[in-house]
Amino acid sequence: MVEQLMRDMFLFLSKNKTLTKLAKRYGLRFGASRFVAGETIDEAVRVIRQLNEKGLAVTVDYLGEFVDNEREANEMARHCLEAIVAISREKLNSQLSLKMTSMGLDISDELVMRNMRRILDAAKERGVFVTIDMEDYSRCQKTLDIFKTLKKEYDNVGTVLQAYLYRTEQDIEDLKPYRPNLRLVKGAYKEPPEVAFPDKKDVDENFKKIIKQHLLNGNYTAVATHDDAIIEYTKQLVKEYNIPNSQFEFQMLYGIRPERQIELAREGYTMRVYVPYGTDWYGYFMRRLAERPANVAFVIKGIIRK
Ligand code: FDA
Repeated sequence: MVEQLMRDMFLFLSKNKTLTKLAKRYGLRFGASRFVAGETIDEAVRVIRQLNEKGLAVTVDYLGEFVDNEREANEMARHCLEAIVAISREKLNSQLSLKMTSMGLDISDELVMRNMRRILDAAKERGVFVTIDMEDYSRCQKTLDIFKTLKKEYDNVGTVLQAYLYRTEQDIEDLKPYRPNLRLVKGAYKEPPEVAFPDKKDVDENFKKIIKQHLLNGNYTAVATHDDAIIEYTKQLVKEYNIPNSQFEFQMLYGIRPERQIELAREGYTMRVYVPYGTDWYGYFMRRLAERPANVAFVIKGIIRK
């Protein structure tokens, strides 16, 4: 009950525009640096290199979301291009992740497609794979429509589906002809029971169901979770169906269960760490706090240290 209230509070706070602006102005605070690699590409490169040296693959994300003007969307795209160039120049084992609302999804189709094509062209030229993160339910259909259009033009693009949505099983079937590389996650936004399973147990069951569905469709699957039960389930499933390690990978977020990440890499699995950086860290940080009240301890320590 208390956990649910805290979760709702952090998810509510994650959308607060004034706090987002203040956070940008005052820099990484309150323990956010545990989950965010820094504010600049140079800081991110350092972190990616350290992770690569430990045998971990990366997907790097320039933080930003819900952009509402063209200038800012173009600026976000420029940061993504900068990250792609850095990955290639520094020979990093890293992909790129981005959010469609940072590319102008809420502004115009023309803008978001222009920015996406700029990024995918540069990424293709340098052999970098790009994953389109999935945001809240209201943007899900549009994100998938854009993904389908882009997937016909580019083979270096994938996206994310969320186990908490009722629609996901059907989305996996609809996407099957595209042979998509999908990251599967539980889902991080606050959604109403009309569209998403309210009960965590049902989300976990659906997560297992869609992992099996997508893997047995023969498509590349990134199982993105910190949940040992889901990781164990995936390991058993691939054994049972003789699915090679080259058809799937595990993914976790930077700063969460780092020892487990190394263990999985040592067991021979591809383990990819999602590394966010940039000044727009506030919404991302709030969602991490919502996921696990224990993370709040870091915030309190961060405040006390000031
Ligand atoms: P959950 O939060 O239920 O945790 C399950 C268990 O994991 C816990 O009971 C505990 O045992 C362990 N655990 C979790 N956190 C821990 C910690 N800090 N320390 C120790 N143990 C811990 N969401 C979205 O909506 N769109 C997206 O595009 C993405 N992208 C994305 C990429 C990657 C790489 C990851 C890992 C996640 C996302 N997500 C996401 C977020 C995702 O939807 C989800 O909110 C989080 O991954 C948390 O869910 P878990 O699957 O980890 O399980």
